[in-house]
Amino acid sequence: MSHEPKPLPPGATIGILGGGQLGRMLALAAARLGLKCHIYSDVADAPAFDCAAARTVAPYTDAAAIVRFAASVGAVTYEFENVPVAAADAAAPHAPVYPPREALARTQDRVIEKQLVAGLGLPVAPFEAIDGVAGLRDALKKVGPRPFLKTRRFGYDGKGQVVIEEGSDPAVALAALGGVPAILEGRVAFAREVSVIGVRGRDGEVRHYDTPHNTHEDGILRRSVIPSGLPERHQQRAREMATEIMVALGYVGVIGVEMFWLGEDASEPLVINEIAPRVHNSGHWTIDACGVSQFENHIRAVAGWPLGSTVRHSDCEMENLLGEETHGWASLAAERGTCIHLYGKSDARPGRKMGHVTRLRP
Ligand SMILES: Nc1ncnc2c1ncn2[C@@H]1O[C@H](COP(=O)(O)OP(=O)(O)O)[C@@H](O)[C@H]1O
Ligand SMILES: [Mg+2]
Repeated sequence: MSHEPKPLPPGATIGILGGGQLGRMLALAAARLGLKCHIYSDVADAPAFDCAAARTVAPYTDAAAIVRFAASVGAVTYEFENVPVAAADAAAPHAPVYPPREALARTQDRVIEKQLVAGLGLPVAPFEAIDGVAGLRDALKKVGPRPFLKTRRFGYDGKGQVVIEEGSDPAVALAALGGVPAILEGRVAFAREVSVIGVRGRDGEVRHYDTPHNTHEDGILRRSVIPSGLPERHQQRAREMATEIMVALGYVGVIGVEMFWLGEDASEPLVINEIAPRVHNSGHWTIDACGVSQFENHIRAVAGWPLGSTVRHSDCEMENLLGEETHGWASLAAERGTCIHLYGKSDARPGRKMGHVTRLRP
């Protein structure tokens, strides 16, 4: 069945696969435009349900439930990249799916993702696909000291990865990941981590937000600071690289492209780390510091609306509230110039993303 690429009018419903905080903030942004959201999650207490007009609780592998869901909405999107590609394919005959299934398929596997980026002639860390200990021993000779061993699939927030220290036993590292297919990545000696939050409309128009400087602790994003201090020509190049990826994928929606910046004088100043085919944690500040946030622009793109302004009106710093940090909500709410966002999660497990604050510096 083909679909007229007509814009979804106010009152129409967008289906979102995934019910975490990203789905929640997408639903809030959709509401501002008079659009409704139907959230599909495999857990009964998904944070996005609080803000949704309709909900489905079912496994992502339940093709009949996916079909019913897709048939009830005007377009389908997803808020995390581990939605099975089969779910997107089951939905596709009933509603257009954005970003396209290829974006999902290629970014679910770190090796295929790196091949995509390298195939476009864009710089990535040296990498080797790993299927066992013998291959790992060979690969270790090629990628330089203290490399990262990561699972090919399902990693997030630094989970599913270990650093192989000098002199340590690689078999132990592989076993720590459960012996699943893995990737060995050379360590990039970066000066800063940055990201490009880009958006591409159904009509192919591309816009970007300012590049944040991101700091991670234990593999989890701690804060994003804007402006990043990156020289303008490097920001320009970073945006171009993200655009090349979006165009290659026939992308529609918001993309997050994580990059390493190696410094002013490096021969290869920007190396692409990973691609998120969705709204991104390092773009949360756009809710408070831009006229139109990454969430609204994603909804606009998926709904076939014109993209909104990505212009930033304030300098700012976004900080994640992890685990019990969320218990400080009352004093954070009292801070001048601070915008607080809580995700409605009850269980403040260590390292869990419970909310974030954006401190504006107009
Ligand atoms: N090849 C690398 N070189 C240097 N640092 C890395 C490398 N890979 C990962 N890291 C560090 O670990 C963090 C998390 O790794 P990443 O591959 O982005 O996985 P995740 O999916 O968990 O975000 C990165 O933001 C970076 O700080
Ligand atoms: Mg990452």
